[in-house]
Amino acid sequence: MAAIRFETVTKTYPNGQTAIRQVDLDIDEGEFLVLVGPSGCGKSTLLRLIAGLETPSSGRILIGGADVTGLPPQARDLAMVFQSYALYPHMSVRDNLAYGLKVRRTDRAVAAQRVAGVAAALDIAELLDRRPAQLSGGQRQRVALGRAMVRQPKAFLLDEPLSNLDPALRAQARAELRRLHRRLGVTIVYVTHDQEEAMTLGGRVAVMRGGVIEQVGPPLEVYGSPVNTFVARFIGAPAMNLIPAALAGIEAPAGAVAGIRPQDVALGTSGQLHAIVDLVEPRGHDHLLHLRLDSPGAGPVIAVVAGFTPPPVGAEVFVTVPPDRRHLFDGRTGKKLA
Ligand SMILES: Nc1ncnc2c1ncn2[C@@H]1O[C@H](COP(=O)(O)OP(=O)(O)O)[C@@H](O)[C@H]1O
Ligand SMILES: [Mg+2]
Repeated sequence: MAAIRFETVTKTYPNGQTAIRQVDLDIDEGEFLVLVGPSGCGKSTLLRLIAGLETPSSGRILIGGADVTGLPPQARDLAMVFQSYALYPHMSVRDNLAYGLKVRRTDRAVAAQRVAGVAAALDIAELLDRRPAQLSGGQRQRVALGRAMVRQPKAFLLDEPLSNLDPALRAQARAELRRLHRRLGVTIVYVTHDQEEAMTLGGRVAVMRGGVIEQVGPPLEVYGSPVNTFVARFIGAPAMNLIPAALAGIEAPAGAVAGIRPQDVALGTSGQLHAIVDLVEPRGHDHLLHLRLDSPGAGPVIAVVAGFTPPPVGAEVFVTVPPDRRHLFDGRTGKKLA
């Protein structure tokens, strides 16, 4: 396993599209790093740069301290797992696992030993004689991972590997992946557009936008202290509400914007912000309230309200923003204010 380092890496595709802009990033040995961001922000490009499937236009990439910038994928010794697992349908699980070793002409006894070891680690030993079609989605994912693991790569690169699974399986596969990482201590770089997946999986998450890493940190740090309004709204669901600070009666520099998560909005019978309940969405254990502020220039505010009897549509409420729960941003740049 190895650390991965980006030194001011830029990637511009031949068509002129710059997908990665001056990215500096240090991924520790054995770390589980999740790259998250909206579609087109450069996540796959960053992963492909690590793998050697793309070359940087400028900057350097180091793996285990060695400069690999000019090295082809075969020389980097990494394993990549894509959204489509691309298992060979006509082969047994055992042969799928062994295939990469076979083409590298690994000694047969060594190969059999590695396959057995990986199958035990992934808890798929009893599936070795099945075909992929006879497996569940989560089992297929483990076989795809296992196929990468038998090669004993320096790191795993996973590009949206769970997005083909239905929600229940995804949650299960996610948990399995975390246990696996804890057990094996391998370096994993994992790409997803799903902020919930990023929050639950990552030892650290790197939030990307437009080819730039906006913030890197442990999930709860990014959630609790977003550096700008983009990160604030991208991480956490429903998205953080942004209200002009002056409207909310918050003392702040001119033009400042107050951010408050829907879970932190408090409703009362008096206060600074008068609102009308516009829509109520039951979610089982709580309700989502869409509130319309009666101040001009204010967008809708979403509140998550626990309990079974929310205020009805049309009800008048007052929104309060608990001081210890609010975030403040510069209205122009979107940057967090100290
Ligand atoms: N081979 C390519 N040639 C030109 N542009 C590309 C190529 N691959 C990706 N891009 C562009 O680079 C940007 C980042 O793409 P990508 O890394 O695939 O984003 P993500 O994985 O976050 O959705 C997008 O604007 C995309 O259209
Ligand atoms: Mg992608």
